[in-house]
Amino acid sequence: MSDSRHRGGFATRAVRAGQEPDAVTHAHATPIVQTSTFVLGDLERGERLFSGEEHGDVYSRIGNPTVRALEAKLASLEGAEGAVAFGSGMGAIAATFLSLLRAGDEVLFLGPLYGGTRGLLDELLPRFGVSARRVDDDTLEDAIGPATRMLYVESPTNPTLAIHDLDLVGMVARRHGLLAVADTTFATPALTRGLEHGLDLVIHSATKYLSGHGDVLAGIVAGRTELLEAIRMEGLRHVGATLTPLAAYLVLRGMRTLHLRMRAHCDNARAVAHALRAAPGVRHVHWPGFTDHPRHDVAKRQMADFGGMVAVELDGGRAAAAAFLGALRLFDDAVSLGDVASLACHPASTTHQLLSADVLRQDGVHEGLVRLSVGVEDGDDLVDDVLQATAVAALVSA
Ligand SMILES: Cc1ncc(COP(=O)(O)O)c(C=O)c1O
Repeated sequence: MSDSRHRGGFATRAVRAGQEPDAVTHAHATPIVQTSTFVLGDLERGERLFSGEEHGDVYSRIGNPTVRALEAKLASLEGAEGAVAFGSGMGAIAATFLSLLRAGDEVLFLGPLYGGTRGLLDELLPRFGVSARRVDDDTLEDAIGPATRMLYVESPTNPTLAIHDLDLVGMVARRHGLLAVADTTFATPALTRGLEHGLDLVIHSATKYLSGHGDVLAGIVAGRTELLEAIRMEGLRHVGATLTPLAAYLVLRGMRTLHLRMRAHCDNARAVAHALRAAPGVRHVHWPGFTDHPRHDVAKRQMADFGGMVAVELDGGRAAAAAFLGALRLFDDAVSLGDVASLACHPASTTHQLLSADVLRQDGVHEGLVRLSVGVEDGDDLVDDVLQATAVAALVSA
């Protein structure tokens, strides 16, 4: 990354990093190199490319110029040696586990986790001899056993916006020679750069804020070259959750405005969280910017702002949540998050439906909980919308 486009502040790199004028066509926008395979030239060169002696593209499952531009941009924003992109966030997470763990290894994770990740750890990986155990920040170090190989964390978490201390996870991992991996999808590198907190790898569902427009599925892992090589050559090459060039282009385009969008998401979420907290029929508002959030101090230390997600727990349980969702006009009732358009979802009946009652209780996913992905519309309009919807929901619980 010697080019001046890779230097400078965060906004400069968000716009410029990874994106050079095309050497062949001189196109200013990054070309979408829509090809499955690349011409090798001759037998000797083909052999050198396949042995790794010479670098170059051979097949788009493993590498492609448009995808590489995205990998370079994300690596620059995270301050990472490199990155590997995938066709979805789950593709990135699964490839990371499959590449870096082997039978007999244990993962310690700080809960709660995204349901798909929890499913991998609880159901799929145990079939291949990898086990996982949930621990708390306070008990993390004591829980480490002889089989522990990886510490895994999300921050902020889905859906109740719990915050985990990334410095602590990085420090404990270093002390015990373990891998520390964080999914910082909710924060993005605009707010939190996990590698600066001592983590080995950070993972994103680029489906969310990185792409930002709700029109693509993508995932990406960033960190040290040595780990990424294993993830690319085993997790990506052998499993094949590859990002397409067109999807890579859409994520690249979205990432050019990440810093601007995140500022607007954070400002609007702040306004919505404060308005909801004062509204009738609201039992609790989860947002790490409140000074009485249990981990507000940690959030302040590791986040530039508090993110675009807010979760609201309504007094009237499921009926109030249904009335609230039905009354919202500017928040579309849909899963996913990080879109410029505001979204709302009821985790208990959708994303968290398959989790046991015990896990739901432990994670604070009650029937009255609604998760809001606050978009970049006018903040006043969003506040008016949630207030009229809480008034409707309060009638149900009255
Ligand atoms: C925190 C987090 N990680 C990972 C994922 C999975 O990403 P994808 O849907 O792109 O596979 C999600 C999806 O909602 C998520 O919220």
